[in-house]
Amino acid sequence: MPIAESSPAASGPAEGALGRILDGRSIAAHVRERVAAGIARRVSTGRNAPGLAVILVGKDAASEVYVRNKGRACDEVGIDSTVIRMAGDIGQARLLAEVARLNGDPRVHGILVQSPLSPHLDANAVIDAIDPAKDVDGFHPWNLGRLAQRRPVLRSCTPKGIMTMLAHTGLPIRGLDATIVGASNHVGRPMGLELLLAGCTVTTVHKFSRGTEEHVRRADIVIAAAGRPGLIRGDWIAEGAVVIDVGINRLDDGRLVGDVEFDKARSRASWITPVPGGVGQMTVAALLENTLQAAELQDSAQA
Ligand code: GUN
Repeated sequence: MPIAESSPAASGPAEGALGRILDGRSIAAHVRERVAAGIARRVSTGRNAPGLAVILVGKDAASEVYVRNKGRACDEVGIDSTVIRMAGDIGQARLLAEVARLNGDPRVHGILVQSPLSPHLDANAVIDAIDPAKDVDGFHPWNLGRLAQRRPVLRSCTPKGIMTMLAHTGLPIRGLDATIVGASNHVGRPMGLELLLAGCTVTTVHKFSRGTEEHVRRADIVIAAAGRPGLIRGDWIAEGAVVIDVGINRLDDGRLVGDVEFDKARSRASWITPVPGGVGQMTVAALLENTLQAAELQDSAQA
């Protein structure tokens, strides 16, 4: 398939040049500054700081790290965050009762139930129970439905963070071909809706797809979100494509790598995200934005 004249793949880097790094750390730092300024404005007009409640069930080492990082980021921008720890063998009814209590607490503007939940719990029922106005993860069917109808309210954090990164490239993305590898509820599916809203032609490949390589080869934008190290070969990347790697995979030797063969891909891409220091930072930044947005929306609903 020919690549459109205006696409990044048609005006890729010069031979031998390396793709530019889309630095999640610095872009996320800008987002945090913007959120902190918005919160300072809010507080200076006598309103309360946004409040985020994180429910953490059981003891999962990775979840502990994610929750700690979210708490630090909240502290930095002025969000009041609390972690509600619940035992790993908590029952569904008790967990739902906690969500209901937080739904009714006016100091809590955002609720996040850290996943994964243990298998005896019904994660979908927990998401459904969160008030959509406080669903700062953007996982509730109401928020996903709004995004599907081109009327987004609270948007899923990782895809939202990726859209911020794409904006940072300065490339006009309307009309470009985007291939998403991975069709999860949290990333692949809402990512497709975001890119569609931005005017891309979207292909999502998943474990039943045939021809993943072909779909990646003709993409101007590749979003790798399969959670499989090295699944996307560097030589599949079209010259000049933008490569966003959502994968965070720990290898046996302790190294953290994405789903894309980074070095080879970088020699072909116009822009590429590193792992670590790429998308992960943006997910947390988008959570902060959503928490401030939720607080503002709840205020205006009460006014
Ligand atoms: N587990 C890993 N990342 C996330 C996230 O962004 N939100 C929630 N709720 N759980 C997670």
